[in-house]
Amino acid sequence: MQLPAVLRNALEVELEGVPLGDLSRASALLTEQYRAGKPSRLTTSVERLAYVAARMPATYAAVHGALLQVALTPRTVLDLGAGPGTAAWAAAAVYPSLESARLVERNGALSALGQRLGLPLKAEWLVGDVGVEQPEADLVLLSYALGENDWPRILEQAWKSTGMALALIEPGTPKGFALVREARQWLIARGGTIAAPCPHAKACPMAKDDWCHFAARVERTSLHRRMKGATMGYEDEKFSYVVASKAPLARAEGRIIRHPQQKAGYVQLELCTAGGLVRENVAKSAGGRHRAARKAHWGDAWPAKEKGEPEGSPVG
Ligand SMILES: C[S@@+](CC[C@H](N)C(=O)[O-])C[C@H]1O[C@@H](n2cnc3c(N)ncnc32)[C@H](O)[C@@H]1O
Repeated sequence: MQLPAVLRNALEVELEGVPLGDLSRASALLTEQYRAGKPSRLTTSVERLAYVAARMPATYAAVHGALLQVALTPRTVLDLGAGPGTAAWAAAAVYPSLESARLVERNGALSALGQRLGLPLKAEWLVGDVGVEQPEADLVLLSYALGENDWPRILEQAWKSTGMALALIEPGTPKGFALVREARQWLIARGGTIAAPCPHAKACPMAKDDWCHFAARVERTSLHRRMKGATMGYEDEKFSYVVASKAPLARAEGRIIRHPQQKAGYVQLELCTAGGLVRENVAKSAGGRHRAARKAHWGDAWPAKEKGEPEGSPVG
């Protein structure tokens, strides 16, 4: 996964001539704050540039990965805590039906940077707090922003503005997942239908010491590698998410919640289902189903078993 070429080019223009050492130091600070679960204030120009160079590709990939799991045809999107517009960019890539975006961000300089980067949609950028009432949009996005807030107040406004669906994406850490799990319950209690990743609206079956998260592989540009002193050509961004809709949407019958394990003669899938967490061994003899399991990825929807096939066994 890479940022769209037009966005990569716009980033290159912004980053031209910025000393690598400055970007590396700012990027290291962002990583430190991110790992400590602290919000990044992005007060200096170099911090904002380090964010778009180092974090924007990762959050883009996470939002893209989450939205791909939900079939929608939105025309309007509201990106709350938009930063440089990352999530709106991802939504535009997933949903060609999108025509316009409204992006709310309190950091005016970051919003201005986002405006310079552009957006492939008609866009209205607002500098302000996301707790303020906004007009309804088909799709509402809260990407890596809710955790920086007193969340029920913000989620309430976001849900009020939601015409079709609301997508909440947070870091794939125990803390990020805990927030997603609480927000999921909050949304169900207000009549939301959980569209993804959960195949049901029952209580989340994830064990207390575990957390539901997924990963998006992000290709690193050479600048990204040099900034981070990294040798690998990619990084995996871990994220937790929930998409809730106002009207019922088709949802997966099962969700693959770990990397599928290729074993001799079968593929082992760990699944979240309406019946709880189950492990399914898909044997070679299952033909097409086995071929599908071999190609399946962590985070994918998994189809229900055909009639007569054996039940998966509870995980544990
Ligand atoms: C980690 S950044 C994520 C930016 C972007 N959504 C992304 O995925 O790359 C969080 C952003 O949310 C903004 N933010 C957090 N709380 C906010 C609030 N109450 N009102 C407006 N913006 C807020 C911050 O200023 C910051 O730019």
